Amino acid sequence: MATHQLLVLPGDGIGPEVTGATLRLLDAVSELLGWSVEKAEADIGGRAIDRVGDPFPVETQTMIDKAEAVLLGAVGGPLWDQAPKRPEAGLLAMRQYMGLWANLRPFRIFSGLEHLSPLKNAKARGIVFRELTGGLYFGEPRGRHLLPDDLEVVDTLRYRRSEIERIVRLAFKYASDHHWTLTSVDKANVLESSRVWREVTNELAQGFPDVTLTHRYVDAAAMDLVLNPAGYQVIVTENLFGDILSDLTGGLVGSLGLLGSSSVAGTGGTRGLFEPVHGSAPDIAGRGIANPTGSMLSLAYLIGWSWSEREAERLIEEAVAESLVEGPHTPDLGGKASTEEFTQTVINRIKKIVQRRKIS
Ligand code: NAD
Ligand code: IPM
Ligand code: MN
Repeated sequence: MATHQLLVLPGDGIGPEVTGATLRLLDAVSELLGWSVEKAEADIGGRAIDRVGDPFPVETQTMIDKAEAVLLGAVGGPLWDQAPKRPEAGLLAMRQYMGLWANLRPFRIFSGLEHLSPLKNAKARGIVFRELTGGLYFGEPRGRHLLPDDLEVVDTLRYRRSEIERIVRLAFKYASDHHWTLTSVDKANVLESSRVWREVTNELAQGFPDVTLTHRYVDAAAMDLVLNPAGYQVIVTENLFGDILSDLTGGLVGSLGLLGSSSVAGTGGTRGLFEPVHGSAPDIAGRGIANPTGSMLSLAYLIGWSWSEREAERLIEEAVAESLVEGPHTPDLGGKASTEEFTQTVINRIKKIVQRRKIS
């Protein structure tokens, strides 16, 4: 019997609601496939601030050191917006602590949900490769300086060439393996870091003659993604642009609740952090109506990446996709179903698929 190990960080807002649903799905999958899963739980974000005054407590770090894979819900919320330490700082510290420089955020318009895209007859299926441990998020110096008659604020956009190279290479490799096109998004008409980004990308392109590469400025890319989503397959970009454009793909496919993600240290090891693209959704938290799809897909990516159970990854992706065709849907998709009802639908689907496979 396969034994797998998982650290769960439910976090804040709808975080515990979506990870709770996903763990119910995992229980069903592990029972069907005869796995034994050792689960542990730790605090991060706002609830860690409330408990120990730190959004990324030492005890959570210790548990991460022992973890094969981490499933995270979401952090943040209005409760902590004015706090001296913000919940989001815990998530950023964890990404850096684990060395997770590559953030993969797939998107697709699901069958049966075409009407939810704001675009007519849109087709979209692709993935954003977002650099995750550099750029404006982490650059030093940063802070506030009181001037005699004003306040100066500083954020620093810093990249090393090697940091650019490793994420772009990973995206090229993915594009090549999947026979997909690659769009590199930057702001090379203004930013020095983007100019180097473009140079590095052009250099790497020599090693991937099979991949069609396009460069786009981020402003034009945002416009074009809306007008022509089918023109995008693999997108590679720096940290902040990737944050913004991946939420845009959430809009494209009809709901941010549909996107999962993997954060990994490239191909170095199988450890990773898997979390939906969305946040803690304070506007719907506590009502039991959050869409757990992004979290469930994140679990699928975790199972494939960290546990090397590729069949089970596909099984979950298939069950989620079929459940989205079948419904019922949560309110973000125009339905009335609760998180619980949708979760049960996915679990029933998995059972049916497994049974179908056993018979055939
Ligand atoms: P958000 O992603 O939490 O919500 C944006 C909108 O999408 C809201 O209307 C919300 O109801 C909806 N939504 C998001 N996920 C949904 C789901 N699963 N089902 C149904 N509807 C869903 O973004 P925000 O409101 O800008 O941020 C709220 C808090 O979350 C902030 O503190 C922010 O910093 C934090 N945040 C955390 C993460 C993370 O933990 N990875 C990501 C993004 C934002
Ligand atoms: C995300 C979030 C985070 C980010 C925040 C909460 C720090 O928006 O995961 O997309 O900006 O990376
Ligand atoms: Mn974001």
